Amino acid sequence: MSDRAVLAVEDLTVTIGTRRGPARAVAGVDWSVRAGETLALVGESGSGKSMSVLAATGLAPRSARVTGRVHLLGTELTGLPGEDRRRMRGRHVGFVFQDPMTSLNPVLTVGRQVTEAGEEHLGLTRRAARARAVELLDLVGIPSPAERVDAYPHQFSGGMRQRVVIAMALACEPDLLIADEPTTALDVTTQAQIVELVADLQRRLGTAVVWITHDLGVVAGIADTVAVMYAGRILEQGPVDAVFTNPSHPYTTALLAARPDPDGGGDELVTIQGSPPSPLDLPAGCAFWPRCPVRGAARCEHELPPLVPVAADHHVRTFYPHHTDGGVPT
Ligand SMILES: Nc1ncnc2c1ncn2[C@@H]1O[C@H](COP(=O)(O)OP(=O)(O)OP(=O)(O)O)[C@@H](O)[C@H]1O
Ligand SMILES: [Mg+2]
Repeated sequence: MSDRAVLAVEDLTVTIGTRRGPARAVAGVDWSVRAGETLALVGESGSGKSMSVLAATGLAPRSARVTGRVHLLGTELTGLPGEDRRRMRGRHVGFVFQDPMTSLNPVLTVGRQVTEAGEEHLGLTRRAARARAVELLDLVGIPSPAERVDAYPHQFSGGMRQRVVIAMALACEPDLLIADEPTTALDVTTQAQIVELVADLQRRLGTAVVWITHDLGVVAGIADTVAVMYAGRILEQGPVDAVFTNPSHPYTTALLAARPDPDGGGDELVTIQGSPPSPLDLPAGCAFWPRCPVRGAARCEHELPPLVPVAADHHVRTFYPHHTDGGVPT
């Protein structure tokens, strides 16, 4: 693992102009990921996971105002002209999204699609690109790749399509792979295969990975570090082992308790009461306060807790680290 961050964001804030006013999707987020390392972004729907990586890579919607600093392989992206940023992204970042069909063109063979990026960014001839497509399909575990290279997306199963998308994402040998809920649309067995495939490719290629997921089970298996997001902010972040064995924010504790039992065994799923606030109307204090099980923390309603260290590289945004349930110390 290298010390240099492949992607680092500092104080990243994204405010989206909507008809009902400005929506603050991401508010002052810091994280980084190094070569060969996986950062997991977790949190409920709407917490700003996707928007933070889209904004970091210059893909936020036009209506969004993005501030903060983003370094990709040491180059500051935020000040770059759009064309340079697009080139950096094309050369260094691969994307895998939830639904493979949004990334695939139904009327082109999978081989053409895998090679398209390679032709543009690596300057391959058509013939070399085709050979490379076969190689990449083989790499991601497509059986008989030399024949399947001429098939169309609809001739593949969902899991195989996601493998094709991963092959496309890897075509220009990216330093960073962004996987946004890549397994959510797949059955459990196929999910596990895709998770294992990415972990294996990462070991072999040394790619940095940002993996966005609701599934904390996946996080434990593949991530090195985790950032738990809520209403656009990070509430807890650190090495996966530290966060899982010593969750220090009530929200993390609640998310861990809400995890489905991997063995499908008897216990009821614990749900977190209530729902996150609207990004159009965020409170001045802690956005989790109305749902927080820690009672008596009146201060949190009006005052935003800072992100404080609880151990090496392990930070938590609360006035009361470790008091994850019960009362607040007086
Ligand atoms: N184009 C947009 N216009 C207005 N608001 C948006 C837009 N895209 C996202 N948002 C808002 O920004 C916030 C963060 O959205 P984001 O997509 O990052 O959430 P997420 O954590 O990825 O959620 P999910 O798990 O559902 O994918 C949400 O409140 C969302 O409604
Ligand atoms: Mg998302």
